[in-house]
Amino acid sequence: MTRHVTTIEELGRAGLLEVCRLARDAGGVSLAGDGVALVFERPSLRTRASSAVAVTDLGGHPTFFTGDEIGIDSRESAEDVARTIAAYFSIAALRVRDHGVFARMREATKDRLSVINLLSNEAHPTQAIADLLTLADHFSAGDVAGLAGLEVAYVGDATNVARSLSVALRLVGACVRVASPARYRLARGRAEDPDRVSTGSLVEGDDVVEGVRGADVVYTDAWVSMGAEAETERRRRDLQGYRVTPDVLDVAGPEAVFLHCLPAHRGDEVVDAVLDGPRSLIWQQAAHRRSAMRGALAWVRGGA
Ligand code: CP
Ligand code: NVA
Repeated sequence: MTRHVTTIEELGRAGLLEVCRLARDAGGVSLAGDGVALVFERPSLRTRASSAVAVTDLGGHPTFFTGDEIGIDSRESAEDVARTIAAYFSIAALRVRDHGVFARMREATKDRLSVINLLSNEAHPTQAIADLLTLADHFSAGDVAGLAGLEVAYVGDATNVARSLSVALRLVGACVRVASPARYRLARGRAEDPDRVSTGSLVEGDDVVEGVRGADVVYTDAWVSMGAEAETERRRRDLQGYRVTPDVLDVAGPEAVFLHCLPAHRGDEVVDAVLDGPRSLIWQQAAHRRSAMRGALAWVRGGA
């Protein structure tokens, strides 16, 4: 059966733990002689770089395409793009504007093409895998299942990143708190719905101090995600009170660590003293994008 990594929810707990295990040790899985199509409809630094290196780590070769040159649903349909890619590649990893194209591409290729989501408007699963690996290194000697009971506070706009992260954390039994204005909470009924996971816990509210008090981890992401640029002024106004400062981290506690998927917007959702401070794990997190992608590639390739 062809495997895909389009959401953490679809991976489920067993798949998620397998991908994390393969991220540490690909167990001889090889992409030798194979290419991987890497498609970017939106800008990227970490994802693009880590994907290229991860494909090469496994002996394959990456071929990049920009959204402009492919024109998903403008130059030709997402279905025809998928059928064409499947004629040359067995794995396609894509950063897309519309999460719905993944299902269409899978259907069009009758599941002959493994699809990996490199960020959509609804999910960022390879980021969440890197986040778990980073947290496991810090809190549980590398054991992702050992994150059960961890208290993770997410502050600000509950984005694609927050959605995949919340599902991933709940699947390993962690406790998620989201502090944000009502309009910026986790979406329900779409990809990565945290309510569809029965393990772990989720609490949402608008009070930052309540949200972070005693948390092991404080996490934030951009106030203005890619595609939301037209709302910049409103978002900066609405989210002013949700900036992660040293005071916020102090409410969490002296042992609390800080995570951010990056790119950071210094002075907006987080300040330099936090990003560059001793409790920040952002560079370990960025480095784990490479291992996370290796795990995702090895898993779709059939590693177990
Ligand atoms: N975190 C992340 O996905 O970064 P890029 O947008 O630079 O790839
Ligand atoms: N939420 C951000 C994440 C960037 C990695 C965005 O979608 O732009």
